[in-house]
Amino acid sequence: MDERKIVFSGVQPSGALTIGNYIGAIKNWIDLQDEYNCFYCVVDLHAITVPQEPKNLRKNTLDLLALYLASGVDPEKATVFIQSHVSAHTELTWVLNTISYMGQLNRMTQFKEKAQRNEANLNAGLFTYPVLMASDILLYQTDLVPVGEDQKQHLELARDLAERFNNKYSDTFKVPDPLIKTVGAKIMSLQNPESKMSKSDADDNGYILLLDKPDAIERKIKRAVTDSIGEVRYRDEQPGIKNLMNIYSIFSGESVEHLEKKYEGEGYGKFKGDLADVVVEGLRPLQEKYDYYMKNKDYLETIYKEGAENAERVARKTLRKVYKKVGFIPRG
Ligand code: TYM
Repeated sequence: MDERKIVFSGVQPSGALTIGNYIGAIKNWIDLQDEYNCFYCVVDLHAITVPQEPKNLRKNTLDLLALYLASGVDPEKATVFIQSHVSAHTELTWVLNTISYMGQLNRMTQFKEKAQRNEANLNAGLFTYPVLMASDILLYQTDLVPVGEDQKQHLELARDLAERFNNKYSDTFKVPDPLIKTVGAKIMSLQNPESKMSKSDADDNGYILLLDKPDAIERKIKRAVTDSIGEVRYRDEQPGIKNLMNIYSIFSGESVEHLEKKYEGEGYGKFKGDLADVVVEGLRPLQEKYDYYMKNKDYLETIYKEGAENAERVARKTLRKVYKKVGFIPRG
């Protein structure tokens, strides 16, 4: 029996990834895979809650899998799979829908934001999206969920649903804990440091993509909004610089205190130039590995097939328990 604690996380294949996704989530997954039994999922079922071109979705799904591996997710250690390959995710979602309250789902900030952006396609999937996310997590009896700050409320819902089900039908689900880092859990837009860096930002200077070329990275950092104070200091009055320092610190491993000292008396120009180098160099190995995996589609296929088999075994076990407790007759 595998006694290790269980980790589950996922990213939507809804287009190019930003360094926010990387820093807030994927980068942290790597450290966990030696110690925990990790499940890292490409959540394609979540992606169709906003309109997707089928051929782009197919491409983005494989792209994301390649990016997981390029970032250092090791399929020898972690289970890497595609959500729609394990039908237990949608099956558990149905059961959990029946114990989810409309009021609570209505209060989800991401739903409220997305509802505003997708007024013309305000579909029911967008509303029950957090229930699918809860199913992802609860199916694997997850202990820890490494995510960025913006997923905290969804994690609380997953915990509520686990407890509600356990109280109603007896102990079935592990109640998961979020794993949100203190630095980097919310990387902000380079153009508006008050709002989260997001790939859905209309202004592409607001985000850096994992696959951005060096000249694009340099340009975006050079244009990043700062302030007129002119000192490289880590404090709330300077949200633009604070965000850039977080990025710098994460890519270089140097503490923000160290960076303050290093750039004492220097202007923003030098700081931004060095930051661009650090990010370009930090992403270079990842981009090279990504190119390699994208040329080896057969390998990717082997990985997601094996991953799905492993995930399915674990997920089915939980789903069988759930069906039994709810009162469904086993087919035999
Ligand atoms: P998604 O695809 O929007 O984002 C993937 C991960 O990236 C983190 N993130 C950020 N972290 C720091 N700064 C940012 N600016 C930033 N932007 C995004 C997110 O917090 C997330 O960890 N619903 C989820 C995917 C999901 C999931 C799950 C996650 C589905 N099922 C089960 C964990 C467990 C989502 O849409 O993430």
